[in-house]
Amino acid sequence: MVEPTVAVLVTGGAGFIGSNFVLHAMATHPEWRVTTLDKLTYAGRLENLRDVINDPRHRFVEGDVADPAVAGPLVKESDIVVHFAAETHVDRSLHDAGAFITTDVYGTFVLLDAARQAARVRRFVQISTDEVYGSVESGSSTEHDELKPRNPYAASKAGADRLAYSYWATHGVPVLVTRASNNYGPRQFPEKIIPLFVTNAIDHLPVPLYGDGRHIRDWLHVEDHCRAIDLLIDKGTDGEVYNIGGGNEVRNVDLTHRILTELDRPTSLIRPVEDRLGHDRRYSVDTTKLQNLGWRPRHGFDEGLRATVAWYRDNEWWWRPIKEADPAYRDYYATQYGTRTSHQTGSSGT
Ligand code: NAD
Ligand code: DAU
Repeated sequence: MVEPTVAVLVTGGAGFIGSNFVLHAMATHPEWRVTTLDKLTYAGRLENLRDVINDPRHRFVEGDVADPAVAGPLVKESDIVVHFAAETHVDRSLHDAGAFITTDVYGTFVLLDAARQAARVRRFVQISTDEVYGSVESGSSTEHDELKPRNPYAASKAGADRLAYSYWATHGVPVLVTRASNNYGPRQFPEKIIPLFVTNAIDHLPVPLYGDGRHIRDWLHVEDHCRAIDLLIDKGTDGEVYNIGGGNEVRNVDLTHRILTELDRPTSLIRPVEDRLGHDRRYSVDTTKLQNLGWRPRHGFDEGLRATVAWYRDNEWWWRPIKEADPAYRDYYATQYGTRTSHQTGSSGT
């Protein structure tokens, strides 16, 4: 039996990507002891960790990354920090950006400052996002491109991204930054387009497509994202930025049609609604730098989307209580979509 001697801190590990990463890490690294630090906001769910919650190699700590009394000691006892914790939904950042600043920017500062004082930390992975590049009119963003975030979420992530870099440049904290494209897969909170549209369609409810539906996202399966982070922990270079993308650029309207076809639902469920403010037209990342380290996505989009739709169909226990019984979700849904679904502007973009 391998002794678990490497201490790994995963912030935000009860969320979508974080929980997938914790499960991946526990399955592939018997030498790791994983601590999950998570505040359990609306997006953090303990059931996401049910497969590891009783594993002696895993410890769950409920707490705020922005609280130095909680986060500081956990950072200091770690060899590796993988920082996922964040407020993550663009639409919520348009209603109220406060929590995005507190968690995404200030919380990252607290962790970095603890790492500065921690001799043990040998790798600090700052999970950033491709949204920091802003809307990409043509070509693909490389790691050297200018950052032009255009919504409060993206701007808060850009702040954290460059703050992390500054702690490497000034204090020598072993920081590495990743900028991934749109993730999809199991356990994504049903506010994001794929789980929202899949679960609405399962229930024969309308799917609210913003604007003309021709906005493009590059879809990355969450397992491929986790494998990329794992590889970078081992092979990445301090002070560097790495794009991670699935190479699956799809217009929202085409994504919507694929989901409806998969669930055998009519296109009449598509409800064109008022556009998102400052809606970025397209994201696209150049992943040459990561590919040069040997990473390739394993999931094709057709297979990955089919499996993801099947996961939501087979795991109603996971999402139905959120959508039907969580008052916070229902309030959000009413605020976000209540008036929009009555304004049928634009076309379905077909
Ligand atoms: P998520 O919203 O599903 O999960 C976020 C997690 O962070 C939740 O468990 C939540 O409880 C926790 N959290 C929030 N505030 C906290 C705080 N103050 N202290 C401790 N924990 C807190 O998010 P996700 O989609 O899994 O995204 C994870 C990370 O990946 C984020 O940093 C996000 O910016 C980044 N990212 C996401 C995508 C994507 O497509 N989802 C793509 C690129 C980058
Ligand atoms: O690109 C990486 C980013 O991807 C991450 O950093 C964010 O945390 C993550 O939320 C995601 O941001 P997006 O805004 O791209 O994801 P979302 O699922 O909210 O929207 C995807 C696209 O679908 C976008 O063009 C807006 C559109 N959309 C979304 C929703 C929720 C709709 O048309 N209708 C909707 O109801």
